[in-house]
Amino acid sequence: MRMIDLIEKKRDGQPLSNSEIRFFINGFTAGDIPDYQASALLMAIFFQGMSRAETVNLTMAMAESGDMLDLSDITDYAVDKHSSGGVGDKTSLIVLPLVASFGVPIAKMSGRGLGFTGGTLDKLESISGYDANLSETEFRRIARETGIVLAGQSKSMAPADGKIYALRDVTGTVASLPLIASSIMSKKLAAGAGGIVLDVKAGNGSFMKTPGEARALATAMVRIGVDAGRDMVALLSDMNQPLGAAVGNALEVSEAVKTLKGKGPEDIHDHCVEIAAHMLRLAGRGESRTDLTETRHEVDRALRSGDAFEYFGRMVAAHGGDLRQVEDLSRLPQARLRYNLLARDGGFVAAVEADKVAWAALALGAGRSSKEDAIDHAVGIEIHANVGDPVSAGELLMTVHANDDGRLQAALELLADAVKHSAEPVPRLPLFHGVVEGRDM
Ligand code: URA
Repeated sequence: MRMIDLIEKKRDGQPLSNSEIRFFINGFTAGDIPDYQASALLMAIFFQGMSRAETVNLTMAMAESGDMLDLSDITDYAVDKHSSGGVGDKTSLIVLPLVASFGVPIAKMSGRGLGFTGGTLDKLESISGYDANLSETEFRRIARETGIVLAGQSKSMAPADGKIYALRDVTGTVASLPLIASSIMSKKLAAGAGGIVLDVKAGNGSFMKTPGEARALATAMVRIGVDAGRDMVALLSDMNQPLGAAVGNALEVSEAVKTLKGKGPEDIHDHCVEIAAHMLRLAGRGESRTDLTETRHEVDRALRSGDAFEYFGRMVAAHGGDLRQVEDLSRLPQARLRYNLLARDGGFVAAVEADKVAWAALALGAGRSSKEDAIDHAVGIEIHANVGDPVSAGELLMTVHANDDGRLQAALELLADAVKHSAEPVPRLPLFHGVVEGRDM
């Protein structure tokens, strides 16, 4: 087989066979296919797209390019979740202990933040001592003994995706539906879960800007999972304003703990109840029910009773984290400076633009511009107003937590027009735009 033939075939709009896709993935991962030929093929895929069969074959080849995690010594059916990335999205911190509190073991590998979106591990590392870099033996031991483990992704999983993503990033081929779907799903399939709930965001604070784009990505990913023999569901959730009231690592841990005790903001509470209910359904809890109403009630009770918080504490302790910081939130990292942003006009909040809030959090030091950057766990933004809220001139809209005057000024410039006002009442934003069910595929 020759790479040039594959490039020409795809360039001319013909589908690639499974053995051709395997030839490309295995050869590129092994270093036998040069970057210039891989780039040309990626660009041809960008323009010509891929069929359902090609996309699943590409995903399986990428998943099988490294270790495939076998979780059968921990549970006979693992459930996982994945968010396509948003602003203030601390859902994993809440939903995973919540689901574990129902006796469903959670053994999850998660990512770090880069650019605009935060990473679950960075948030957890706001807690002193939390060690996310576990060996596979430690990962399995904690999962078995504690019922929940949340650690960094092993470098030996889906190495083809790492190499291809780095090339896409510099060749203008990131924004391709089959390439995004196969990239995300290769890591999910390698992580060993039988059931996967996808949280695909739509809005200015996410990759997909409209519910239509999010549905297309969700459908592509759900199809891949179904064809690979997994139980799948994707929820399409709104990301036009930040999720919850906190953006920034320690601030988000604090909000997650409050939500785990049933005292979080309504939007993040309801969002997490929905995701958890779907995970429990896939895990066989409440499966016989035709709707999730009772499961949602049970999930809500687990938050209010403290059961979910107990599992969060178990997880933090098992990873070596300082439990005193989650029991007394004032012990989490605190920023030196606080700046209150007030409403200039009265009326109604028409927008709290998630992308501007995210760039401001990055300017404060809450995220990374490049992989090597250190992050400041204490800084971030608290948001006191949601779209649709009535507001008076002079009312508190946001509190900016900073450790550096220059960075604070940069963040304030980015936030200057993040909140829009309207003299007329504005409807609240929906939490969800729909569901894509694997069983319908
Ligand atoms: N996230 C991924 O893991 N891969 C993509 O291609 C896009 C987002």
